[in-house]
Amino acid sequence: MRVCVIGTGYVGLVTGVCLAHIGHDVICIDNNEEKVKLMKSGQSPIYEPGLSELMQSSVSSGRLTFSTDLGAGIQHGEILFIAVGTPALPTGESDTRYVEAVARGIGAHLNGGYKVIVNKSTVPIGSGDWVQMIVLDGVTQREQSLEVAFDVVSNPEFLREGSAVHDTFNPDRIVLGSNSEKAIAMMEELYAPIVERNYSQDKSLPPVPVLVTDLNSAEMVKYAANAFLATKISFINEIANICDRVGADVNQVAKGIGLDSRIGSKFLEAGIGWGGSCFPKDVLALIHTAEDYGYETELLQAAVKVNKRQRYLVIEKLQQELKILKGKTIGLLGLTFKPNTDDMRDAPSLNIIEELNRLGAKVKAYDPIVSQTGISHGLSGVIIETNPEMLADGCDALVLVTDWQEFLKLDYDKMAKTMHHAIIIDGRNFLEREVLEKAGFRFVGIGC
Ligand code: UDX
Ligand code: UDX
Repeated sequence: MRVCVIGTGYVGLVTGVCLAHIGHDVICIDNNEEKVKLMKSGQSPIYEPGLSELMQSSVSSGRLTFSTDLGAGIQHGEILFIAVGTPALPTGESDTRYVEAVARGIGAHLNGGYKVIVNKSTVPIGSGDWVQMIVLDGVTQREQSLEVAFDVVSNPEFLREGSAVHDTFNPDRIVLGSNSEKAIAMMEELYAPIVERNYSQDKSLPPVPVLVTDLNSAEMVKYAANAFLATKISFINEIANICDRVGADVNQVAKGIGLDSRIGSKFLEAGIGWGGSCFPKDVLALIHTAEDYGYETELLQAAVKVNKRQRYLVIEKLQQELKILKGKTIGLLGLTFKPNTDDMRDAPSLNIIEELNRLGAKVKAYDPIVSQTGISHGLSGVIIETNPEMLADGCDALVLVTDWQEFLKLDYDKMAKTMHHAIIIDGRNFLEREVLEKAGFRFVGIGC
């Protein structure tokens, strides 16, 4: 099928590349000329495992092209994905101006053919009808009037950064929200190869469940999923904070409750909490939407409050170990909000750095991706080292901020010898306590 994806960020680019890989004819549109130039040369502007290879094979097969020409993209696609950013405003409200600009642009460029317009970006509940209105606005603003035929579908994404390609080919479910049978049928045709597991790791699995529902419910599924996952993490962090005080081990507690099939073992890793471009923004947006309709979200606000506090726990633990942090040198292992991504949006490391600077500590950092890409936003004053050994040299303590696999295999014996104090705060309860203690470290976890 002919597809146009508008917005080539973490979601739009992955969606476009994967749809081309399964056989569709895809144009990806972005208004950032630099990005389009890079993608045309076969390079991905973002780090996602497996994305570059798929991108290159799809481009060479001629099924994937990139452009800044929105009109050309709209003429080409019978299915138009809106995948532009919907960042949070300071009020917590979703900033939908980019979605509005694109929807208006679609209205301005629609030709006679029937189109399915898909909200892929996470948009406030009720946006489906709003997008329809904006597109029609775009149509009426044209010189010559035109009969247009289109329907809007909500098709929320559940991609985790660092595994977005895997998640696209192995989704737990596909959610389609629309009141148009024609649009739903076209979307089911589009996703058929994925539903039939032709690209799944485990082809013996039953077909991917497809939930067809109304627009508002589909949009709410996205928010409710992220809000639940975020709340589940804040729950285990609350338990970890109690474990710290009563001498229980939160890792054992997480195992014990996770064996209950009603709870499940995933997303019960205690630590410095959640960051990234989705959980923080989507939970705030849901809180804000509820407020618009006169409902106070006590539980969600509590989850946000618990989460905000988690990041500063590592500072408290450093103070317990080193007392005064002024003049001390602290080394951060990892900077990104989670492993296997280059995304620093709302990364806990940014608040930890800010607080350490405020307390007069010197901050060094090593991150497998950031140390190579030279990302500097929010890292002013931080000495970025190119390897963990250089990071440890001269430090009074280390803090593990991101659970990168490679941190399990470092030479901690050697690192301990070059530090002023061999202290490590494991912000993700990720490292093996025995290994670190054998290497001579004072090991401090969160709730364990
Ligand atoms: C976006 C939304 O932010 C998120 O809510 C949703 O869940 C998934 O899609 P992301 O892919 O991370 O997440 O967005 P971002 O990384 O901000 O990329 C958006 C892209 O759209 C950028 O490349 C930007 O250049 C482009 N864009 C933005 C346009 O092409 N046109 C515009 O008018 C605005
Ligand atoms: C999330 C959702 O998982 C995904 O479905 C949605 O589409 C986008 O938002 P993402 O934010 O990319 O994906 O990463 P995720 O793996 O969910 O982790 C989010 C944050 O929670 C990270 O900062 C991670 O470190 C933290 N986390 C995750 C925990 O602190 N504990 C856990 O047990 C799991």
